[in-house]
Amino acid sequence: MSGFNELVYDGVPFIQKSHIELARLTQSLTWPRIILLVTTYTILYTLTLAIYRLFLSPLASFPGPFLAKITHWYEFYYNVVHAGKYYEKIRELHDKYGPVVRVTPDEIHINEPSAYNDIFVVGATRKTNAYPRFSNGTGFEDMTAISTSHDAHRRLRVPLDKLFVRNSILRIESRVADRVARLCDRLSSYQETGEVVNLTNALSSLTTDIISSVIFEEPSDYLGDPDFNSEWYETLKQGGRNVFVFKHLPWIIGALGKPLIRYFVTHVTRWTIWDEKARREVLLIRKRPSDGSKTREKTTVLDHLVHSDLVEKEFGSGGFPRLAQLIQQAGAHNVSHTLGTMVTYLLMSPEKLRPLQKELELIWSEYDGKSTAPSWIELEKAPYLSAVVAEGLRMAIGGMNRTPRVFPNDEIKICGWLIPRGEC
Ligand code: HEM
Repeated sequence: MSGFNELVYDGVPFIQKSHIELARLTQSLTWPRIILLVTTYTILYTLTLAIYRLFLSPLASFPGPFLAKITHWYEFYYNVVHAGKYYEKIRELHDKYGPVVRVTPDEIHINEPSAYNDIFVVGATRKTNAYPRFSNGTGFEDMTAISTSHDAHRRLRVPLDKLFVRNSILRIESRVADRVARLCDRLSSYQETGEVVNLTNALSSLTTDIISSVIFEEPSDYLGDPDFNSEWYETLKQGGRNVFVFKHLPWIIGALGKPLIRYFVTHVTRWTIWDEKARREVLLIRKRPSDGSKTREKTTVLDHLVHSDLVEKEFGSGGFPRLAQLIQQAGAHNVSHTLGTMVTYLLMSPEKLRPLQKELELIWSEYDGKSTAPSWIELEKAPYLSAVVAEGLRMAIGGMNRTPRVFPNDEIKICGWLIPRGEC
């Protein structure tokens, strides 16, 4: 019979010998020695990493502040200690270093509008990966529906695209109009009451209910809530602040806070309501014949996806609730923020609001006495309204988080700098 027990070293069986060595080593490991060892290791590791990032990294030659080049704590300081202010610091860095700046050890930031079309390209031009620091590594990958690789993203994006093209949106116009009418009724009810309405929450409730009606057969009714769900939006706002912490310290959150945060997310917030709803609707839709469900009057995003196994192949058995949540979140907040930006600036500048009111009054006057209201096809021809929408989209930024790109197969030249493949 062979085995470790048969190995003999210096007259003593090997296993026994190694136990003796281990015991000697353990005895010699006093607390001061452990602290010294850990400190020496940490210093050596940090120094080696800093030297690599400064001189050997593929991004070593790019300009930027010393600290941003060697550590992510530089970004942490501006984003966590100063609550999301790194974007302001980045603007200052561009003033100092030019249009291309290394803003973290792994990322280049470009401030040159003409480079936009070189960076944000379609798949036919070149493959683009998303940068994983946003959600990957946090341990919460199974709660989001974010694909980081070009191919996975394409697989899911293509069937979703056709659900959001102009014709598909025109088909659901009445769902949008019904909810806008409800918001108007709610706002009118405050007239002359002296009560202050939180318009951010009111607009968020509007967009949540709209996108919810696109995804679910049983849409949400946030517009029916007496204070437009202010508690929920406060929870989301607080959660949003933590995105920067998640991004910087995924391992700490994974180790210490994951069970707690997971408990909070699934039990305290409304995540579970959406989850349960998506699961229930998926079961319902699966019982219907697939052709009929896509042409129904009340057809939803889930109707179009449930009969294919694509979503569950990408994201596992909880794929539908995760995808539904992603679309719900993405479709609600950017839109309400854009609407809020437009309303705020219009209210602050009556000379810009007045021409819009005049234009809309003229269009509506043609419908006096009729039971219908102008359709979007008519409204989009109104030049001042279109300009307001375009300006609102320009001014309201999409999100407070950078959405970097990585080109896995190609290096590209931007503003005279050659950005190595696989870097961002
Ligand atoms: C004012 C309206 C909107 C703005 C300003 C806006 C802005 C953005 C931005 C900046 C991104 C990140 C793009 C990137 O990094 O590539 C994004 C992605 C996304 N948005 Fe919107 N969005 C709006 C409306 C919507 C609506 C109505 C929906 C849902 C139906 C939606 C769903 C999504 C989804 C699913 C993604 C991820 C797309 C992907 O990874 O391919 N957005 N949006």
